[in-house]
Amino acid sequence: MQISPSILSADFANLEAELKRIANADWAHVDVMDGHFVPNLTLGLPVVEALLKVSPIPLDAHLMIDDPDRWAPSYAEAGCRSVTFHVEAATNPRRLARDLRAAGARAAMALKPGTEFAPYEELLPDLDMVLVMTVEPGFGGQSFMADQLGKVRQVREAVRRHGGEIWVQVDGGVSAETIERCADAGADVFVAGSAVYGAPAAAEAIDELRALARRHRHP
Ligand code: DX5
Ligand code: ZN
Repeated sequence: MQISPSILSADFANLEAELKRIANADWAHVDVMDGHFVPNLTLGLPVVEALLKVSPIPLDAHLMIDDPDRWAPSYAEAGCRSVTFHVEAATNPRRLARDLRAAGARAAMALKPGTEFAPYEELLPDLDMVLVMTVEPGFGGQSFMADQLGKVRQVREAVRRHGGEIWVQVDGGVSAETIERCADAGADVFVAGSAVYGAPAAAEAIDELRALARRHRHP
């Protein structure tokens, strides 16, 4: 059960210090938005490269960008240990996943709330993680979409049939109120932005979320 706090809710003027506040997390989740695939613009490769130099924990890059086939491998080459592309934006997701692995990263595919998993199940052999979005991508602090839990279950079932170490990540509205349902449904990597950076003590919020997830681990 791993926690990946999203620095989207951190203080962008002090990112090094903000990463150090979450050093007890498993990953630091970095939301790259290009203003095209989603209607918001955050940061790109130069900032990610700077974060890689100072982060005490590995980076989990979530690329909400057009044309990931072209841009995503650079994030793996730069040193992000996990790189997630949106399958809706990819031209050749299988080749992209292979490129990410070849560049040394775990390869992950994200699904927007309106995107079915079934058409992409055949990509599992080339993937290390599937991200089920539990909000519309683009902004932090939105309400959790409980109607995505069925998809989390479906992905967990497919991963079990397939075997191997493929993680199931949830992202969006994950908090102490919602994490147990995500864990029950089969998620094992939990992104939380506002629930961590909006808490009085980020490190304590991480420990609390991890403890709640462990108690509700999918059988
Ligand atoms: C939304 C991003 C999320 C976001 C989550 O598009 O992918 O990672 O930061 O924020 P919370 O946890 O506040 O919903
Ligand atoms: Zn994200």
